[in-house]
Amino acid sequence: MADKIDVMFTEEQITEKIKELGAQISKDYAGKEVTLICILKGASVFTCELAKRITIPVKFEFMQVSSYGDETESSGVVKILQDLDEPIRGKNVIVCEDVIDSGRTMHYLLKVLEQREPATLKLCSLLDKPDRRVVDVDIDYTGFSIPDEFIVGYGLDYAQKYRNLPYIGIVTLDK
Ligand code: IMP
Ligand code: MG
Repeated sequence: MADKIDVMFTEEQITEKIKELGAQISKDYAGKEVTLICILKGASVFTCELAKRITIPVKFEFMQVSSYGDETESSGVVKILQDLDEPIRGKNVIVCEDVIDSGRTMHYLLKVLEQREPATLKLCSLLDKPDRRVVDVDIDYTGFSIPDEFIVGYGLDYAQKYRNLPYIGIVTLDK
């Protein structure tokens, strides 16, 4: 038997939400340029779609940090696997993440990025699981707040699978 996936948000719902986020960001940064930092690999699909909906100039940066491995629980150990290409000093930076869960990864990463003295530093997350929070994190732009469920699709994986699903779904693993 295969894993079961129940749709939580359809592709249409996600597209609508990303349009709203893009419009809000374009308004908030009117007349400026933003640098989107995509947190690989989970935020890849979201960041690209968001960038398409932003009408002001956008630059892309990519960063990869270790969080989950193949487990569904955060280890609490955060390591930078791939760093930025360019300095962010004086830039308007928006970190793009797929989901804020315990908050450990972002709490650490935002502290690291703050030390590099960007002009502004904000966080945009497609999904937020507030019930799972262990460490406080301020999310400036949130797509959807969701209950404590393990979800896949739209960039999010389980053991590197399902990132390519065009929707977001709750996965029930085949045992
Ligand atoms: P945190 O440090 O616990 O906030 O973990 C955040 C990271 O864990 C995210 O960037 C995801 O890669 C991963 N993660 C958390 N919840 C889920 C989920 O439901 N599905 C897939 N990945 C998740
Ligand atoms: Mg991630």
